[in-house]
Amino acid sequence: MASNGGREHWGSKLGFVLAAAGSAVGLGNIWKFPYVTGSNGGAAFVLIYLLFVLILGLPIMIAELVIGRHTEKDPVGAFKLMAGRSPWTIVGYLGVLSGFFILSFYSVVGGWTIGYIVKSISGSVAALHDSDSAKSLFSAFTSDPLQMIFYNLLFIVSCMFIVIKGIKNGVERWNKILMPLLFIILFVLIGKGLTMEGGLSGLSFFLKPDFSKITAASIIAAMGQAFFSLSLGMGAMITYGSYLSPNEKILNSAFYIVILDTLVAILAGLAIFPAVFAMNMSPQEGAGLIFHIIPVVFGNMPYGSIFSVLFFILLFIAALTSGISLLEVITAYTIDELGWKRQRAVLVFGSIIFLLGIPSALSFGVLADAKLLGALTFFDFMDKLTTNYMLPIGGFCIAVFLGWKYGLDKTIHELDPDTKIISLKELWAFFIKFISPVLVLILFIMLLRSDFIGR
Ligand code: PFF
Repeated sequence: MASNGGREHWGSKLGFVLAAAGSAVGLGNIWKFPYVTGSNGGAAFVLIYLLFVLILGLPIMIAELVIGRHTEKDPVGAFKLMAGRSPWTIVGYLGVLSGFFILSFYSVVGGWTIGYIVKSISGSVAALHDSDSAKSLFSAFTSDPLQMIFYNLLFIVSCMFIVIKGIKNGVERWNKILMPLLFIILFVLIGKGLTMEGGLSGLSFFLKPDFSKITAASIIAAMGQAFFSLSLGMGAMITYGSYLSPNEKILNSAFYIVILDTLVAILAGLAIFPAVFAMNMSPQEGAGLIFHIIPVVFGNMPYGSIFSVLFFILLFIAALTSGISLLEVITAYTIDELGWKRQRAVLVFGSIIFLLGIPSALSFGVLADAKLLGALTFFDFMDKLTTNYMLPIGGFCIAVFLGWKYGLDKTIHELDPDTKIISLKELWAFFIKFISPVLVLILFIMLLRSDFIGR
């Protein structure tokens, strides 16, 4: 469709796959996946999650990349181009808004990772020998308003710095270096966790399903986690797809991205749960889980502080490559639709996101008791609103729009032209028209019931 001659394209196929995988792989895999799995009963949750990744995530990932490359636009521009002046453009705006909301709390956790790099270097992590001291370190840190705001700012500024440099020089170059590093450090951690005494019971918690632990809430959490972890439902993949050159293969790339993302989540689980059980800690620690566990592992091993620095650098890197994709969605929108210069867009919207993030940054301290909807801190509210509501609604609309309104016949040529397996395209078309939207709808009705009627 569109061919805006001057649009920047990814420099290479590997560059694109690594950048898109860099968006997908982030705190969602290493911080969120273990704690949500831990709170939802372990292996059975993991299985349901994997199922959703396959039947919801993969088809919607392909759909977003198709829309992005087809239109060469940001999410709002893409819907404007494909749907004209119709309410469908709301889907694009919803995506941009989701980017704002997610980055506002994401950068808080991103800030924690920087704080823990500093703590690891200064030796306060190496001094931890039991879970109680790790917990008190974490709560003293996250309840200190000045540190929270400072580190939040530092994280946002890091994202802004890279996004200002532009898609090829900034986003692509960093991901190429950082992603392989991430795998190496994860393997080192797994090796350590599995050799700890008692670690194997953590492995069975993570890998041996007990379906009696599954509830409606955990099924919904698995759906939200799939959207969040794969960066779907808000147009991040539309935006990254828009920089994809016409000869790149979408099906092929989507498979790689989904496999990489899932692999990192599983590796993170393998790294965390053996340690949790070896240290007789509960997997249900919530958002603090990895910050309660990992420092103690390091505190009890030789050269622990070096490993600790490496681990938190890894987490920071993973968070950064996702944070930049969130900011890129908003930036692409303002550049494409409002005609702003990249630098101005990043400075203005980065600052707004920082301000919006302040209540989330304070949610573990001074604002811990300020509850929204009766039970949620501002941080939890933003997380739940985006993960359980905005992203699945966005994904649902993208599938329905492409499958039913715009028509797959106009876009299917975007898929790998030389794919011999024609049925693969048909399979995707079937999923995007029927399976994905119907499944999200059913889960959404379950969610509404559990959030508003079930209480
Ligand atoms: N997928 C990222 C993670 O797992 O940390 C978070 C994220 C990035 C969600 C970009 C949504 C998005 F558009």
